Amino acid sequence: MSVRVVAPGRVNLIGEHTDYTGGLVMPMAIDRYTEFKGDRGGDRVQLRSFDEPDPLDLPLHIDHPELAEPAWARYVAGVVAEMRPEEGFVGRISTDIPIGAGLSSSHALQVGVALALGYRGSIIELARLTQRAENRASGVPTGIMDQLAIASGVRGHALLIDCDALSVEPIPVPDDLEVVVQFIAHRTLVGSEYADRVAECRAVEAIIGPLREATESDARSITDPVLRMRALHVTAENQRVRAFAEALRSGDLVDAGRLVTEGHDSLRLLYETSTPVMDDVVQRLCATPGVYGARMTGGGFGGCVVALTEPGTLSHGWVVQAVDGAHVVEA
Ligand code: GLA
Repeated sequence: MSVRVVAPGRVNLIGEHTDYTGGLVMPMAIDRYTEFKGDRGGDRVQLRSFDEPDPLDLPLHIDHPELAEPAWARYVAGVVAEMRPEEGFVGRISTDIPIGAGLSSSHALQVGVALALGYRGSIIELARLTQRAENRASGVPTGIMDQLAIASGVRGHALLIDCDALSVEPIPVPDDLEVVVQFIAHRTLVGSEYADRVAECRAVEAIIGPLREATESDARSITDPVLRMRALHVTAENQRVRAFAEALRSGDLVDAGRLVTEGHDSLRLLYETSTPVMDDVVQRLCATPGVYGARMTGGGFGGCVVALTEPGTLSHGWVVQAVDGAHVVEA
């Protein structure tokens, strides 16, 4: 059976490094896509990508996705291992999501592959399945934000996601707000300090309980200075997401921008996931008339920054629109 699937990338507007403690995030699926075209059937998954020199060829039964070759096949193998599809897929992939730039190219690949392989089930289960696939394939204990944003995107809306309840509330992006993404540097979370941050949050929770319920004074009670900084970021960031959703609802774009920039400062000073180049770019953006606020977006240590602006303010970067989530276009 002939199948065409599109899976968007995502940009996170606010709520960074909160998803793996069940906190609040507010990403949106963006008008950059990975597209799959091919035929479902047979007992192998065979894919060629315009961006990879080597194709992948996988069986339907996989025990160790982390060992698949070439390296990009691990993400697909993770999905196959978790999903155990009844049929294979032979096709081609193309993408205009910049790869390894913090816009979730790997998650778009995984959510798209699951749909190409005939996934049937809820969006939440799809996000969970592809999160497990990602964790197995990469060895990085990433949260569920990206998969959920890609799977549940709503045109014209940012998504207020509670990563504990796994509830998604679409919030309209005001017409007079432009979202601009600027690429800073390629990066991978494999081998980065991402896993250290997850471990630090677990250590915090062993002291003060679930971070998603913790208050600033709980965070301040932690004596270890590094753990205290991490906890202060997460507790304040969850508050910022709530306030940001309110600012968008009431059209207070100045306040929305202020919250975004505050979030960046917190990632820079307390969570230490920014880089000097990202800090410079954010500072310059924030000094530009018409820019409401700017911040690093995604896991950090490189990737992209996102700016909220008056329409037409910036000539450099990609103006992105909020779009619907991954779906089968023809089947
Ligand atoms: C990466 C991970 C997400 C999330 C962000 C940080 O994008 O895949 O789960 O943790 O970093 O907010």
